Amino acid sequence: MADDEKAGEGSSRRTMLKIGVGVIGGGLGLIPLAPAIGYVAFPLDHKVTSSGGGFLPCGKRKGFGAEPVKVDLFADQVDAWQRSKDVKIGSAWVIELDGNLTAFSTVCPHLGCAIDFDPSAKKFICPCHKSFFSLSGAVEEGPSPRALDALDVKEDGDLVTIRYARFRQGTDAKEEV
Ligand code: FES
Repeated sequence: MADDEKAGEGSSRRTMLKIGVGVIGGGLGLIPLAPAIGYVAFPLDHKVTSSGGGFLPCGKRKGFGAEPVKVDLFADQVDAWQRSKDVKIGSAWVIELDGNLTAFSTVCPHLGCAIDFDPSAKKFICPCHKSFFSLSGAVEEGPSPRALDALDVKEDGDLVTIRYARFRQGTDAKEEV
């Protein structure tokens, strides 16, 4: 009986030893993989897509006046491990109001459709749910909860630049996302 108990104790000690060696060995085996795991997991806790952020050129000052002009904005984009040059990140309507340039995002504040301009009615329109906006961007009609989203514009000599941004849709308040 005593021999059986001793044999049992010896066996469970060996089992514990094997588990301990396995755990330590497994842990040591993962050390060389740590950089690879970090590399693969990088996008999980970092902002991996970035583009623009600064002011992007959109044209010469003399190209803009009382009639809205649609411009496309391009920037280099970093998406996880990929870097792309001159990617179109968005568009804007640029108009001169009271002598100053104003730029509106072409993304409708309601649900994100593309804003168009009707030259005969002199209004910005969203064809999706029929929102109408004045030349100064105010909502005149339709379900849009707020005016067109104005973007920051700068005149740098003869060059006009815009800081492109995206805003939360469907809310009264203009909130950059
Ligand atoms: S998305 Fe523009 S009115 Fe609905």
